[in-house]
Amino acid sequence: MYTSFIILSIVLFVNNNLSVWAKEQFNEDLTLRSLSDGKLLAHFNFTTHVDVINPVPGASLHHYGLFPKVIGQVLQEYQVREMHLTFTQGRWKYDEWGYPPEQSTGTGVELWAWMENSTRVDNQWKSLTNTLSGLFCASLNFIDETITTEPTLSFQSSSSSSFEKNNNILLRYGSLPHESVCTENLTPWIKLLPCKAKSGIAELLNAHKIYNSNFHSMSIHAKSICANDDCTRRIMELKQTETSVLDPVRETSRRDWSLKEVFDRVLHGACPVADNSRVHIIQDDSNAKLSPELNNPLKGYDLKEVHDELDIRMTWSENSFHYPLEPAYPIISANRYFTGYGQERGGLEITIHNRNDKALPVIYYDSIPWYLKLYLHTLQVIVIDEKTGQQQLKEKGDIIRDMYYQPAIDRSRPTMLECQLLLPAKSIVTLSLDFDKVFLKYTEHRPDANRGFDIGSAVLTAQLPNENHTIRVYTDTLLVSLPTPDFSMPYNVITLTCTVIALFFGSVFNLLTRSFQIIKEEKEVK
Ligand SMILES: *[C@@H]1O[C@H](CO)[C@@H](O)[C@H](O)[C@H]1NC(C)=O
Ligand SMILES: *[C@@H]1O[C@H](CO)[C@@H](O)[C@H](O)[C@H]1NC(C)=O
Ligand SMILES: *[C@@H]1O[C@H](CO)[C@@H](O)[C@H](O)[C@H]1NC(C)=O
Repeated sequence: MYTSFIILSIVLFVNNNLSVWAKEQFNEDLTLRSLSDGKLLAHFNFTTHVDVINPVPGASLHHYGLFPKVIGQVLQEYQVREMHLTFTQGRWKYDEWGYPPEQSTGTGVELWAWMENSTRVDNQWKSLTNTLSGLFCASLNFIDETITTEPTLSFQSSSSSSFEKNNNILLRYGSLPHESVCTENLTPWIKLLPCKAKSGIAELLNAHKIYNSNFHSMSIHAKSICANDDCTRRIMELKQTETSVLDPVRETSRRDWSLKEVFDRVLHGACPVADNSRVHIIQDDSNAKLSPELNNPLKGYDLKEVHDELDIRMTWSENSFHYPLEPAYPIISANRYFTGYGQERGGLEITIHNRNDKALPVIYYDSIPWYLKLYLHTLQVIVIDEKTGQQQLKEKGDIIRDMYYQPAIDRSRPTMLECQLLLPAKSIVTLSLDFDKVFLKYTEHRPDANRGFDIGSAVLTAQLPNENHTIRVYTDTLLVSLPTPDFSMPYNVITLTCTVIALFFGSVFNLLTRSFQIIKEEKEVK
């Protein structure tokens, strides 16, 4: 009797203290879209949303179920408000596929985070990269101060509430263009999902098929924000996405596809804890036939109503697929390349194409490692009119409205260039800069020294007319070859020296140890 009273009072006490109210929601959806060149875009979207009311202001949160604990702890421990991590392999073809469903398509790994302003923010950023590195089995710990930047115009916080915007938060950005992405990164990513890959849409995440594609990208976007002044209400959000561009034409020369063929798996209903679980098919071609038929294309297939198996199949009534020659020109596209020759100096050029009928503001962001010394006074702007083909050297102020430039410091920070550009209607704008290449110390070269160094993508951020969200255009990564010492030289010297010594030693040793004796010829005794 007495013990049960104690237990009851303990339970009551604990309950009173933790009168935390949490509302959690998990949505999963898959969007499948046939691209104009016959490829199939698969976009997996898993979102977890937690809304917590905690009577203690600013208290850390421990009471949630669906939201992965590791991510929640990382956000709270390092005071991260917002975090975006993307792993990408391959190249998104803006010219043929239009704009991607997810903004980030820079090859390699990209990480940016909005963190609370404090004196420890750089240590927190370092801890964050190291933790994520362990969590996702990637070399994120190589994002150190020599490649971390703090962009001012690009990568704005997505948090819409004005309350959050007024708070002082700081941005950190880093990317690793050389990182290759594989199953070892996908497995920890899948582990963050409430149903893992056991049920629901995630069942289709078959690594063999997903990586056998033209483009592959997976990301996590996490957010932890206070929804009111004293921080008694906190919202945490996690969005995990996976984008693949699969190629059904490669195997059958037809663009027909089915889940079974593309992923080698079929669906068996929704993840039990999901509030919404849907498969959307985006199809503008009326010749295509979908089975099983879809009553409401906007709502898609509801997996909560699937109790058996679901295989979706799309067929065209054509014998073979003819590739359209006309690309789908996007409104803004960009290319970046190196100019010049030799190992001493070079140039960087970026061309931005605006196909809109009106002038369009865009933000250009570029971060160049310290071993390329940019000269800002060589910056030139050339505008080519699309209609007349006329080339014009413009005053910088006509095109560049605003500029943030951070010069590099050797071995401690990169060059960062951020420009607010106003692109004239129907034009191609080219920015060019010259640089010198630095002669590195021999220990600073990679083991595969002659491969060169990767330079991460430049990023254009723009708000397209008639669209409410911003888009980002990533250029290709670049490979630069710096003056490389002949690393085989010491080996050559050693072998040559050793040969000489061996020859010398051999003959001297021979001379010293050989005993010479005079052999007398015996006279014949007659
Ligand atoms: C992903 O899902 C969330 C919530 O269901 C939705 O708000 C968002 O628009 C989706 N994103 C994409 C790119 O489909
Ligand atoms: C960060 O905090 C420091 C000192 O508290 C302050 O001087 C600085 O303006 C703050 N930065 C931002 C971006 O709010
Ligand atoms: C953009 O957003 C505004 C208000 O948020 C809305 O009125 C408008 O219809 C939206 N435009 C498009 C093209 O979605």
